[in-house]
Amino acid sequence: MEGATTNISYNVLDRNVHERKLGDKVAFYWEGNEPGDEKTVTYRELLQQVCKFANVLKSQGVKKGDRVSIYMPMVVELVVAMLACARIGAVHSIVFAGFSAESLCERIMDSQCCILITADGFYRGDKLINLKLIADEALQKCRDKSFTVEKCIMLKHLTKEDEALSGSVSPPAKRACPDLQQEKQKERVRKVRPPPQVPWNPEIDMCWHSLIGEESEECDPVWCDSEDPLFILYTSGSTGKPKGVLHTVSGYMLYTAATFKMVFDYHPDDVYWCTADIGWITGHSYITYGPLANGATSVLFEGLPTYPDVSRMWEIVDKYHVSKFYTAPTAIRLLMKYGSEPVQKYKRTSLKILGTVGEPINPEAWQWYYSVVGEKRCPVVDTFWQTETGGHVMTPLPAATPMKPGSATFPFFGVVPAILNESGEELEGPSEGYLVFKQPWPGVMRTVYGNHERFETTYFKKFPGYYVTGDGCRRDKDGYYWITGRIDDMLNVSGHLLSTAEVESALVEHEAVAEAAVVGRPHPVKGESLYCFVTLNDGINYNQKLEAELKKQVREKIGAIATPDYIQNAPGLPKTRSGKIMRRVLRKIACNERDLGDVSTLADSSVIEHLFENRCCTAV
Ligand code: WT7
Repeated sequence: MEGATTNISYNVLDRNVHERKLGDKVAFYWEGNEPGDEKTVTYRELLQQVCKFANVLKSQGVKKGDRVSIYMPMVVELVVAMLACARIGAVHSIVFAGFSAESLCERIMDSQCCILITADGFYRGDKLINLKLIADEALQKCRDKSFTVEKCIMLKHLTKEDEALSGSVSPPAKRACPDLQQEKQKERVRKVRPPPQVPWNPEIDMCWHSLIGEESEECDPVWCDSEDPLFILYTSGSTGKPKGVLHTVSGYMLYTAATFKMVFDYHPDDVYWCTADIGWITGHSYITYGPLANGATSVLFEGLPTYPDVSRMWEIVDKYHVSKFYTAPTAIRLLMKYGSEPVQKYKRTSLKILGTVGEPINPEAWQWYYSVVGEKRCPVVDTFWQTETGGHVMTPLPAATPMKPGSATFPFFGVVPAILNESGEELEGPSEGYLVFKQPWPGVMRTVYGNHERFETTYFKKFPGYYVTGDGCRRDKDGYYWITGRIDDMLNVSGHLLSTAEVESALVEHEAVAEAAVVGRPHPVKGESLYCFVTLNDGINYNQKLEAELKKQVREKIGAIATPDYIQNAPGLPKTRSGKIMRRVLRKIACNERDLGDVSTLADSSVIEHLFENRCCTAV
């Protein structure tokens, strides 16, 4: 579609409001962390908010092609911010609000963003996340590395004006952010909780609500070329440095709209709920763009599946009459532990289709999801895809594709998979090997931001002529595809990809550590847990204090999702004669499996026994 012009915010908003007459239809039922904390937004209201905020961005000098970092909790304003960028042709780069200051800094610098949009803070269950504090720390880190972001817009999500003052390091001017009218009008059944700390630098910081107050509710969309960039989203890469996956306007729009419609068998009276966070690709494609392109009504949930209790998901399903429900295997396994009673407390009669994404779903979890949650009435769509693919690439079509628990079944229209062996030969019939795709589809990423060479090397070099997914795959006698997991140095923790290299580099940055090797160890809920081997510098003793420091180090460098589960002191690591760490052997040690396979290339086999004897049995 190169040469064609469009605007995605126009397509998902104006077209729905003006041409399809869906202005009064609910776009989002927002459900906060606290039960009872809720808000409804129609398509018309969403369009108005997006226009207002797009005007704010323009007033702040943001232009087509500029990059905008967004670091926000799961609130409607996050959707508003991303669509406002899209409206003026700016490129959004959303950073998951669970990432650390260091990770945010790295992403801001890589994408050379001109402005940061964030919020004061939010609660995850009982835990307060001081988002603005972390955002400020990230901006300081950028400054230390000679990159200055001159503007920061903060949404007051938790604080009212007075609360902000009490918690402030440097309080905002009294009239900087007027109290929210809405806030006053709505009787909120919120628990009284301590306010977040809100550091404030009047030279950089601006308040969302005071900015939009003055802006018009109209803003003409900026027409973009089909291949103009829409957003950057960072995903872990095997070198340790995250890759800025870049998606463009039309292909991504078409692909998310079409897959959403067909894979969830969308009907206008559906209430759809995807439990992912918008900070990940699942949220980009299947909370914001795909559903809105179809004029769908969605639930946008800020909270946790276990707060205030483990019935929360099903309570929400009944409350909004959710018909299509999309979640991750790790959430299913987590809830499965509590049995069927918390599920059966609620009716769930509105449910029609259940979806899963993020990692291979084990057949037990599939069965529980299908039988207990869906009472064997609802087809399960196991959707395989990646940040890079933009949307579903291997997936059943509900009620049309006969299911096999644990298989993502067949390719979506236009996707042509193949299974290759190590020498790059295509395998026929039942076989197992590398999953690749033979031709592009509209939603495929276009480049790694600022590093096209890395894009080519990562996805197209190992097997020329194919897109390499990095996943292993088996095809059975009926032609069904079964994803077997990553075959590169990547880990999948609770559906989130991490590279062994990025965790290792966080560990070796500690002064006590000489070398680190990280492997995945199967975990009943998370899928994989992080098992880290560290070799300490001479003269340093391993103790609990150091262990805690290392754990903290990784959290601070990457984020809580990367917190090591096990750390083992490893005076020696198994290496080949050329010095390459044999992670394959370490994976066996982490699992206490004595059958190591071929270890003839091992330089010094004595390290193995020592590592087995000193295995960690309990998580730190
Ligand atoms: C990796 C991509 C796509 C949104 C969430 C993750 C694994 C994803 C499945 C599935 C087996 C799956 C793969 C893939 N994965 N969905 N249904 N069955 N594996 O996005 O962070 O880019 O991770 O997640 O290993 O390569 P991501």
